[in-house]
Amino acid sequence: MALIPGARLRRRHGDVDYVFRQHSDLLYLTGFEQPAAAALLTQNRYVLFVQPRDSEAETWTGLRPGVEGACERYGADEAHPIGELAQRLPEFIENAPRLHYPLGEDRSTDDLVVRSLEAVRGRARRGVTAPRNIADPRAILHEMRLRKEPEELELMRAAAEITREAHEQAARLCQPGTHEHEVEAELHYVFRRRGGAGPAYPSIVGSGDNATILHYIENRDQLQRGQLVLIDAGVELHGYASDVTRTYPVGGHFEGPAREVYELVLRAQESALGEIRPGATLRALHERAVGVFVEGLIELGALEGSAGELIEKEAYRPFYMHTTSHWLGLDVHDVGDYHVEGKPRPLEAGMVFTVEPGLYFPARDERTPERLRSIGVRIEDDVVVTEDGFEILTSSIPKRPDEVERCVRG
Ligand code: GLY
Ligand code: MN
Ligand code: MN
Repeated sequence: MALIPGARLRRRHGDVDYVFRQHSDLLYLTGFEQPAAAALLTQNRYVLFVQPRDSEAETWTGLRPGVEGACERYGADEAHPIGELAQRLPEFIENAPRLHYPLGEDRSTDDLVVRSLEAVRGRARRGVTAPRNIADPRAILHEMRLRKEPEELELMRAAAEITREAHEQAARLCQPGTHEHEVEAELHYVFRRRGGAGPAYPSIVGSGDNATILHYIENRDQLQRGQLVLIDAGVELHGYASDVTRTYPVGGHFEGPAREVYELVLRAQESALGEIRPGATLRALHERAVGVFVEGLIELGALEGSAGELIEKEAYRPFYMHTTSHWLGLDVHDVGDYHVEGKPRPLEAGMVFTVEPGLYFPARDERTPERLRSIGVRIEDDVVVTEDGFEILTSSIPKRPDEVERCVRG
């Protein structure tokens, strides 16, 4: 028996809510995209609790599937108004030995579950028992979500294709005088024009020194000749995220140190990609990227000493402070344990993740050599492990320096 609650609407300001996004666990199990919903799964029944039809409310916020739609369109065996969850839950959990419920995600549903347990315990003399065991459904669910089914991969490929067009259009705007927000607008225009929900996460368009701020989302400066623009943006499509970074030279020519850094990041990414196969680990990919970076940072004059010692001391961290990969799926930083029994988890076919090495040389940091100041480069692709290697879902988005330059020049 499992009870999986959906996400709640959240207030943005006044009486305006944030655009609703279903909780990924409920979305994964049901496809149900509306607020105020929960799924109850028993050994042989799939029950949805949803907002009932309500003509007045629907005038304001749109048509609801209601209890009929929950069965007809979402395949539930039975459905009830969400307002009846509190009253019906005790009956469902009676005599169930274990209830899978994600405690701590939603306090008011937590309360409702506790009250239901109390209600059933109060009927002990009638011979019923309450679940003795409350288990976290995420232990099972997130292992399922970590390994993508072919249908999920199809959606992720479709998301990658929309993201490709968005990057291609955005690249052309990387000219002196354009504002970062204009580039952002172009990305979001393509995301929506092609039917995506919008960006899967706040888009990052960072020119010059802004490219050295990992999650720069103000996107308000004007692009200048000689700068690089780091664009980290991907569409969300039917709940699935793409997560892609490319770094473009303003005006269309990589020059001097910017080219050297770009080529170094690309080498690190290729080296990390080369490691991917079933049985490899994200830790090993990261170590590959770090190895390439440390050699390159010595050549660039940003580090001094022996590579082995510099790696040992993590001397590269002022310039490479994040890890190389994260799981990707319904959440941008998707669910799934990174370690199993204390060890980095071996990759398996169907696992999807990013490979996103980057180097950042902030002008504000005195450790940054003069000639590298205000250069930030990240190259990020989305990858699925296959039976005998890997597939880059985002491989059609150019990243070789000459291709990237051509994208900017249009
Ligand atoms: N866009 C967030 C990330 O790359 O992890
Ligand atoms: Mn990422
Ligand atoms: Mn990203």
